[in-house]
Amino acid sequence: MKHFIFLLIVILSGISQVHACGKYPIIPYPKSLQAMEGYFILKNNMQISVPFENKKVHQIADDFTKKLSEVSGLYLSISQDNTKADIIFTKDNSLGNEAYLLNIAPERIVVKAATPNGFFYAVQSILQLLPAEICSPDFIGNHVIWQIPCAHIIDEPSFSYRGMMLDVARYFMPKQYVLDFIDRLAAQKINYFHFHLTEDQGWRIEIKKYPRLTSVGAYRPYTQTGYKHFHAPVIPDEVEHQGFYTQEDIKEIVAYAEKRYVTIIPEIELPGHSSAAVAAYPELSCGIKKEYEVVKNFGIFDNVFCPKETTFQFLDDVFTEVAALFPGKYIHIGGDECPKTAWKQCKHCQLLIKELQLKDESSLQSYFIHRVEKILNNKGKQLIGWDEILEGGLAPNSTVMSWRGEQGGIEAAQAGHPVIMIPNADTYLNYYQEDPEFAPVGSGSFLPMEQVYRFNPLSTLLKGKLSQYVLGTEAALWTPYMKNPQIVDYYMYPRFYAFAEV
Ligand code: ACM
Ligand code: ZN
Repeated sequence: MKHFIFLLIVILSGISQVHACGKYPIIPYPKSLQAMEGYFILKNNMQISVPFENKKVHQIADDFTKKLSEVSGLYLSISQDNTKADIIFTKDNSLGNEAYLLNIAPERIVVKAATPNGFFYAVQSILQLLPAEICSPDFIGNHVIWQIPCAHIIDEPSFSYRGMMLDVARYFMPKQYVLDFIDRLAAQKINYFHFHLTEDQGWRIEIKKYPRLTSVGAYRPYTQTGYKHFHAPVIPDEVEHQGFYTQEDIKEIVAYAEKRYVTIIPEIELPGHSSAAVAAYPELSCGIKKEYEVVKNFGIFDNVFCPKETTFQFLDDVFTEVAALFPGKYIHIGGDECPKTAWKQCKHCQLLIKELQLKDESSLQSYFIHRVEKILNNKGKQLIGWDEILEGGLAPNSTVMSWRGEQGGIEAAQAGHPVIMIPNADTYLNYYQEDPEFAPVGSGSFLPMEQVYRFNPLSTLLKGKLSQYVLGTEAALWTPYMKNPQIVDYYMYPRFYAFAEV
C-alpha cells in the first residue's frame, strides 16, 4: 500500500508542473512563489532553531527531523538559539491564521508563521520541495541529494474550510487506512475530515449506551454489488461485511488528526439513511414494517427515525458520547434524502403534525432538525446538514452543505447562514473518471480531473456580497461499490490533487 502511494506521488508530482514547471511541485500551489537561483542542501548535523516557547511548533520541528532522518539518514538538531541555525522558525504575528512565509536561500531557510498551523503548512511545503523520495517507505540514504530549490514563498489558503469526506459506512475502512488518509489530507493542506460514520448499510462508531448499534448495526450478511447489467452487473457478493471503530479507536484517530491540523467532523445521519440504527433499535422507527434490517443494497430507504420523544432522548444520548469524543465545534447530522413514506403512514407523526400545526412532512423534517440542533447547541456544538435541511425552514444556527448543485448554498447564504459548497457534479470523487469498462465500479456519473480543477466554489451568484457566507468547499468519497481502500484510492487520485488546488 505504502509503495503504491509512493509511486503515485512520484507520478503525480508531474501534475503540478502545470503551475510550477517541475521545480516547485507544491500542491496546492502557493499564493505567491518567486523562484530563486540555487538550492539549499540538507546536511548531517544541521540545526533548526525554534527560538520561542510553543510546544506545538517544537513538535512540528521534531516530527520534521524524524521523518527526514528515517528516509535520508540525516540528523538535524533543534535548538532555541537562532544565531547560527540553518533553518530558522520565526514567529510573525502579522501573518494570517494559516499563512506562512518561506525564504529558501542556499545558506539558510527562514520559516515565518503566526500559528502552529502556519508552521505545519510551511513544513508540508518543504517536504514537497524535497526530492520525491522523501515519501519513500524505505531508507534512501545518500542515493539522492536532499536539496530544496531556493524561492521566496508566501502562502495562505483561499478558504478557511477545506474538507474531504470519506464514507466508512457503506464499506468499513480499517483504522490504519483512516490514519493514512488523514496524513494525505494534511499534506495537501486540507483542514477538515468529514467522517461519514452511519448509514443504512452500517453503523460504524461504538456508542456505549446503545451496544446494539454496533453488535447489530455494524454487520450485514452480504452486499449487492453493481447497479446495472453491463459493466456493473447486479449480483449479491455472498460476503459478510462488518466493522466499527471503538471509542478507543476514535480517540486515537482524533489525536492523530489533531497533530496534523485536521479537524474531524463526525456525521451521524438522521432522520433518513438510518436503517442500521432502526435495525438495532426498531422502537426508533415508525413501526411500519414487521422487521428492520441493515440493508444490503444501495439507494434511499424508508427506514427512518420517528420523531418521538424516545428518539430524541436516544439522539441526545448518542450525541453526548459523540460530542465528548470529537473536540471540533461541528457535528454533521446528515438530513439528506429522507423519504416521508413512513411518516405519512405513522399515527404518531400525523398527530404531531396536527398538534404542532405543521404544514406537512417537510415541516416535520424541519421540526426534527430544529430539535436536534438544540441538542447539539446544548453540548456546545454547531450543526451542519446537507442542503435538504433548508426544506421547511433552516434551524437558526445551522451551516449548510450544498450538494445538489449550488442552489442550496445560495439560498442558505441569502438567509445569512454559513455554507460549504460541495456541488456533486464538481466534487464527488466517487463518480467515474474514465471509461467504466476499465474502472472499478463507481457511482453512475462522470467527473473528469479537469472539471474538478476548474471548479470555483464562488459561483456567479455567490461571488459578490454572499461570498462572505461561503466557508469553503469539500470533496466527497461515497463508497457504495468501493469494497476496499485500494478502490477508494483509485477514485481519490489524481482528482484529489486538483481539488486541493481549488
Ligand atoms: C448526498 O450525496 N446524499 C449528500
Ligand atoms: Zn412516526
